[in-house]
This record gives sequence, C-alpha cells and structure tokens, in this order.
Amino acid sequence: MSRVLITGAAGFIGSHTADQLLASGVEVVGVDNFRTGSKSNLRGAEANARFSFYEEDVAAAGALDALVEKNRLTAIIHLAALVSVQESMDDPALNHRLNVDATHYVAEAARRHGVQRVVFASSAAVYGETDVGAIDEETPKRPISPYGGAKLASEGLLLGHGAAYGFTVRCQRYFNVFGPRQDPASPYSGVISIFDQRYRDGRGVTIFGDGRQTRDFISVHDVARANVIAATRDGLTSGIANICTGRSTSLLDVAAVFARHYPDVPAPIHGDPRHGDIVHSLGKATVAQREMGFEATVAVADGLAELIESG
Ligand code: UD1
Repeated sequence: MSRVLITGAAGFIGSHTADQLLASGVEVVGVDNFRTGSKSNLRGAEANARFSFYEEDVAAAGALDALVEKNRLTAIIHLAALVSVQESMDDPALNHRLNVDATHYVAEAARRHGVQRVVFASSAAVYGETDVGAIDEETPKRPISPYGGAKLASEGLLLGHGAAYGFTVRCQRYFNVFGPRQDPASPYSGVISIFDQRYRDGRGVTIFGDGRQTRDFISVHDVARANVIAATRDGLTSGIANICTGRSTSLLDVAAVFARHYPDVPAPIHGDPRHGDIVHSLGKATVAQREMGFEATVAVADGLAELIESG
C-alpha cells in the first residue's frame, strides 16, 4: 500500500494531485499552511477516509520532520512554495525561506526517515529566457528571477541528497499550468485564470501586446497525473523532466475560446506588452514520455471548456 505526503496539498496543483491519488486507492497525507492554498480545494479529498491533513508550515524547522516520522510514507510530493515570480522579486528572502529552506527540510526528512521517493515541483522558470524553438532538459539553465533560481537550487539539493542517501528524486519542470482552482487574484496570476474570472464577471480582458505570444499551456489534470506517476510507478530512477504538452497556443487562440463561450462580453482590448515578457515558450515533452511513460492528453480547447463550465 502506498502512502504519499503532499506538501501544499490545499493548493491548485496539490489538491488535484491529492484527488487523483485518492481515486487510485493511495493513502494521502496532506500538509498546507493556507498561505496561498485554500480549504475549499480540499472538499473532495476530505470526504475520503484515506485522506488525513495537517495544518503546518513546511518551511518551519522541524515541522515536516515530525510529520514524516509519524507517518510511514512511500513518497513525498513537494509542491508547497512561494508561487509568484513577482513576489520572489519583491521579497527574495521570503523566496529563499519558502523555496529553498523548505526543500532542504524535505530532503532531510526523506533521508532521516527512509522515504524512498521525492517528487519536486520545479518550473520552466529554471530556463529563463532562451531563443531555442523548443526547450528540452539540456537547454541551458539561466534563471532570471529569484523564483527560477530557487527552483534550480532545489533540484540540486534534492538530487544530491537522493544520490548520496539512496532515494529516488523526480524533478518536474511544469510549463504554464491551467485549470480549475487556480487563483486569479493577482495581476501576475496565470493568464487563463485571470481571463476565466473576468469573463465570468462579464468584463472584457486586456491582452498585453498583439496576442501572438505563445505558451505551452498544460492542464492541471495532466500535471496531477504526472505527479501520480512520478510518486507511485515502480522502477523509476532519479531524473528531471519537462511536464508540458509540446504544443504551443497563442493568447489570441485562448481569448477566442472564451469569446465563443461568452458572446455578450466585450471583445479583448490590447495594452502595451508586459515588461520582461517572453514571446514564445514551448517545451519538449520527450523525457517525461521516455522515463515515466507520461504524455499530456488534454487539448487546450477541451481544458478551457472544462474550466469555463466548472463551478
Ligand atoms: C510567468 C509568470 C510571471 C513572470 C514571467 C517571467 C506565472 C503565472 N507567471 O509568466 O509571473 O513574470 O513568467 O517570465 O507563473 N497576459 C495578458 N493579459 C493578462 C495577463 C497576462 O495578456 O491579463 C499575457 C502576458 O503578458 C503573457 C501571457 O499572457 O504574455 C502569459 O502570462 P502568464 O500567465 O503570466 O505566464 P508567463 O508569461 O509565462
């Protein structure tokens, strides 16, 4: 029987990961301090007898260790983080505490209590700006924010610990994740969550620039499934994989889907391009396919339709 601890279980990706693990019969131990996660995300999980939950700050020394000691775990999925790139630039010390110190506590807890597998929420932000057409894992890592730097450092901390003390580490470099439960509150939230909220409210959206910029948008359901595979599939070895679709979608295409669903909402207006914006970001998904048998299956249009029709 697998028992998996998820840090950040009340978050966007964490709660979907918990739901999928529970649906596949796994016991799940959730941890969150509700800094950015929310109780309502746990409604489904909490109805399941195989789910237990602790309200703790995993960046506080000792907190995680005690939990890992108490629960006999087969894996830890470490998703708890300071998730906003902008916030990492405004408060680099907080970024270090939440995105580096916390990772060290995860690595140490795994070592001290013999947890055989750690899955880590890394990010395409480790690559920074690149001019390659499609980013693979060999693309140079040149982070351009404290957030991206912390994610890259955390990969190193975990892989080093795993190699030294004999546990498996899977670093998952998520691209632009979207879907239900993503927080639209900040101007730096994911564009799809912002668009979704604004269309629901009957307000038009602002497209920064001409809208021809593209992203590799991946459904949170695919990302959660990648986490489930990384945490539970037998025979995996340590490694790093992009978690992406390998397909690019322009912002104009995204806006067009919303416009079709909301014919009465005013058309998008165009503003100045956002300072520091990347024009194209696209991942290559081949390593996840080869090493984990993972392939994204949700088409962006379908994921958007599901989001629009949800809740
Ligand atoms: C990601 C980060 C962002 C960071 C940037 C650094 C997230 C959610 N965003 O942005 O914080 O600064 O990397 O490279 O992790 N857009 C609009 N209208 C809006 C909101 C966004 O047109 O109301 C545009 C943006 O200008 C961008 C695109 O949508 O061109 C995607 O934006 P976003 O979802 O923030 O993702 P990234 O650009 O990848």
